[in-house]
Amino acid sequence: MELYLDTSDVAAVRRLAPILPLAGVTTNPSIIASGKKPLTVVLPELQEALGGEGRLFAQVMATEARQMVEEAKKLRAIISDLVVKVPVTAQGLMAIKLLKAEGIPTLGTAVYGASQGLLAALAGAEYIAPYVNRLDAQGGNGIQTVKELQQLLKMHAPATKVLAASFKTPRQALDCLLTGCEAITLPLDVAEQMIASPAVSAAVEKFEHDWLAAFGVPGL
Ligand code: E4P
Repeated sequence: MELYLDTSDVAAVRRLAPILPLAGVTTNPSIIASGKKPLTVVLPELQEALGGEGRLFAQVMATEARQMVEEAKKLRAIISDLVVKVPVTAQGLMAIKLLKAEGIPTLGTAVYGASQGLLAALAGAEYIAPYVNRLDAQGGNGIQTVKELQQLLKMHAPATKVLAASFKTPRQALDCLLTGCEAITLPLDVAEQMIASPAVSAAVEKFEHDWLAAFGVPGL
């Protein structure tokens, strides 16, 4: 599977890259805006924080297909192998087709339904990002949508992968992976919660306490 961090926090990527088996970093306009650094600065910094390995994802802001293609090229001028995120609107579908024809890899984003994701895959997107938590939050079923999308892609667009996004809890991420989903992107707080929990820290502290009490030294 492929595990991504959904962040523009360079220091956090630098800290977590040696710990997690990261396939790369995904961003979106809101994430980039929260860090207040322009893409020309933050994307190379993220690449460096990943140790030069792993893929970066950044999103176009234009809403018209030809302009999306121009912006995709601007993004690829910053990071040559960047995957371009394109919202799956009607214009987005056209942009995905145009970018595919030019050999530029895309991720179809803002996906709220399996049929929408399938269309983006058929247009040539390499990845499709269904928004799991946002679907749940509006009364839908994010995990069910991931499941359906995976089945559809397997049958009709096997070259495209689901890269599930929008998680608020480790449980959501696990449920998603249990469907067989091949790739997920996690916000920092969810990734941190998967690495450590108060119960684990308490267990380790108890081992240290017992050891010290018996032998008077902390190490072996
Ligand atoms: C990914 O493509 C999305 O931009 C992102 O994961 C959305 O996450 P959010 O719902 O937490 O904003």
